[in-house]
Amino acid sequence: MNDTIFDEKVEETMLGPLWARSKYSQLYPELLNDLKAIDIIKNVDYDFSNIEDYLDEWRGLGLMARAKNFDIAIKKFIENHPSATFVNIGAGLDTTFYRIDNGTIKWYDLDLPSAISFRKTLLSESERNKFISKSALDYSWFDEIEYDLNNGIFFIAGGFVYYFKEDEISSLIIKMAKRFPRAEMIFDAISKLAIKVGNLRAKKAGEKELRFHFGVGNPMKIFPKWSPKIQILDWYTIWARTKIDPNWDKNSIAMIKKSERIKAGKIVHLKFLK
Ligand SMILES: C[S@@+](CC[C@H](N)C(=O)[O-])C[C@H]1O[C@@H](n2cnc3c(N)ncnc32)[C@H](O)[C@@H]1O
Repeated sequence: MNDTIFDEKVEETMLGPLWARSKYSQLYPELLNDLKAIDIIKNVDYDFSNIEDYLDEWRGLGLMARAKNFDIAIKKFIENHPSATFVNIGAGLDTTFYRIDNGTIKWYDLDLPSAISFRKTLLSESERNKFISKSALDYSWFDEIEYDLNNGIFFIAGGFVYYFKEDEISSLIIKMAKRFPRAEMIFDAISKLAIKVGNLRAKKAGEKELRFHFGVGNPMKIFPKWSPKIQILDWYTIWARTKIDPNWDKNSIAMIKKSERIKAGKIVHLKFLK
């Protein structure tokens, strides 16, 4: 079945975060308790053993920490903007909406047409949660978003920016900043070294093309330089604000600590100025 449900490798990558959130929510619900992921993964006809081997526990926990960091930032935004609009760029099978919905926000999940078709087999649209079947690089999706600037608009992009070249991401974010003044955006990024290591691992696993491209060292030296409209509200390494449980597997803890020391993964939170 594995070879038939996806057109592209990058789309297949959406199964990793879903699998991690489902597996580790059952093991470590105090880290993140993603009941929707646990529920929908039962309906995915896919052999997850490859993903389990490829990800390793420490990377899976990193995906949980990413989701937790996003949830905290989103909930804080909702406190001040209870009727905000959210756009989840490269949504895949992401289930953030179900964890943070307050009953009044509006949420869009945007992904490539084949990814959205697959998403629809597991998750349904509703009045306040719509799917957009388009490439994020096709900026016509801007016109599909219903929003009121006074109610707030917030973009999330988990597991997204490093699959693209820097000029593709800079063009996208510069255009978003122009079109959505006062909006905020949160995403994760990985270092240049992590890009290299990720590509080597992907090559070993049989991938012919480079999987990862845009690496981020110090975010302060990159994003604000793209446009005076782009401000960094916050950035931190993936585990900087999440407790590492001493009961987790020792190797996983060692790898998490090592990756933190070299700032391999980070969360970047931008604001677009008027
Ligand atoms: C690693 S997955 C992350 C999925 C999700 N954000 C999560 O955290 O569970 C990357 C996602 O980006 C999507 N993607 C790839 N290229 C895209 C594009 N040009 N526009 C929108 N989404 C894209 C893929 O289909 C996939 O769902």
